[in-house]
Amino acid sequence: MKPPMHKEYASRRRRLLQQLGKQALAIIPTAPTRLRNNDVEHPFRPDSDFFYLTGFTEPEAIALLLTGKRPNFILFCRERDPKLERWNGLRAGLEGARKLSGADQVFAIEEFEQRLPQLLEGRRRLYYAIGSHALLDRLLPQGIRRLQGKGRGGAQVPESLHNLDLPLHEMRLIKSPAEIELMRQAASISAQAHAQLMRWLRPGMMEYQLAARFEHECQQQGARRQAYPAIVAGGANACILHYTDNDCPLRAGDLVLVDAGGEYQGYAADITRTFPVNGRFSPEQRALYELVLQAQQAAIEQVRPGNPCNAPHEAAVQVLCRGLVKLGLLKGPASRQLKRGGHKRFFMHRTGHWLGLDVHDLGSYQQGDDWRCLEAGMVLTVEPALYIDADDKKVDKRWRGIGIRIEDDVLVTAEGHQILSQEAPKQVDEIESWMAQGQVLKA
Ligand code: GLY
Ligand code: MN
Ligand code: MN
Repeated sequence: MKPPMHKEYASRRRRLLQQLGKQALAIIPTAPTRLRNNDVEHPFRPDSDFFYLTGFTEPEAIALLLTGKRPNFILFCRERDPKLERWNGLRAGLEGARKLSGADQVFAIEEFEQRLPQLLEGRRRLYYAIGSHALLDRLLPQGIRRLQGKGRGGAQVPESLHNLDLPLHEMRLIKSPAEIELMRQAASISAQAHAQLMRWLRPGMMEYQLAARFEHECQQQGARRQAYPAIVAGGANACILHYTDNDCPLRAGDLVLVDAGGEYQGYAADITRTFPVNGRFSPEQRALYELVLQAQQAAIEQVRPGNPCNAPHEAAVQVLCRGLVKLGLLKGPASRQLKRGGHKRFFMHRTGHWLGLDVHDLGSYQQGDDWRCLEAGMVLTVEPALYIDADDKKVDKRWRGIGIRIEDDVLVTAEGHQILSQEAPKQVDEIESWMAQGQVLKA
């Protein structure tokens, strides 16, 4: 992740603090490091909430936000350590972290435990996500008890504990212009990587080779990480929704479903394309593909401010039910199938989710008992699908083992919507001619 945009992060902290009430303290730790095996760690990625508010990307850091007079932002992080830095890489250190993050005060992470009681003192409202961080879950009650011990001298301990997720995740749901720019990049890089895969694919390649090529294309364009493990599913593997084994050969005559997205400066893309391994759809594959595409188009048309966020899903299942009846995969009438959820046999997930720093980004979908309405600045995926189980004896043999999902990343704008991932071909003719060009290039 790149050096932070100071004003942007400062304005996020200010807006959050305005919602926390008087004498409030919010404690936001970054993600813990995780061992992979023996002394090898998994690559570190900062916690999304922490990153959203600080832009700071080093491990072992805790941010404190305080309402009232300064300091409003205190950061605990690692000190410089030339010996360890020689082995493990450079650290910002306290002064570097102050410059990078714009914190009012920066202390060494080792001082957190000792300074905690004093930081809690005089704070009425404490915001912390209990259960989210093992070390803090232990230190916070300890800190409060130590302060209470001092209480005979008049120390004030926090009176109430609040969930920071509610105000913070509402903020994260509406993307700022700077975030939208990064999400455009994430989606564009990833969509181009999907397009490259289509031209590069040859029957006999392994699923994991496509995953590797996708990651390579993303990294070449500056998306250094994947937003989630790629799903590359040939043939009936596509019917496993979160298939990540990616260890089968891709066979001519099958489709391959690729659900993959790069992460660009912290922001996720989440794109799925399904295309024929040999470059030509069979009649059955084409019929199902066109139905999913039609459902996706109907769903995307529902993305506009003021529409309930469930409207895309409702539009998609209407089209799917009608189409499945027409193809003989469901018994009519379509209206009855729709009512009883007959489509769920072939389409068992929802049509999309919020997208942002997390691939399944945070923020509620409902307000009270109702679906919340879409607003400009939200980004969501639209991803209808059909999965016909390879062993489904209730459907004609020719349909079995076909799995298709088409997924785009869509920004809600004041006027309606914008598809951020449109550089990845998705019309049948477009895919076939694009793949044919690839085959000419390789011949
Ligand atoms: N890539 C996971 C999903 O589409 O939700
Ligand atoms: Mn996906
Ligand atoms: Mn998705």
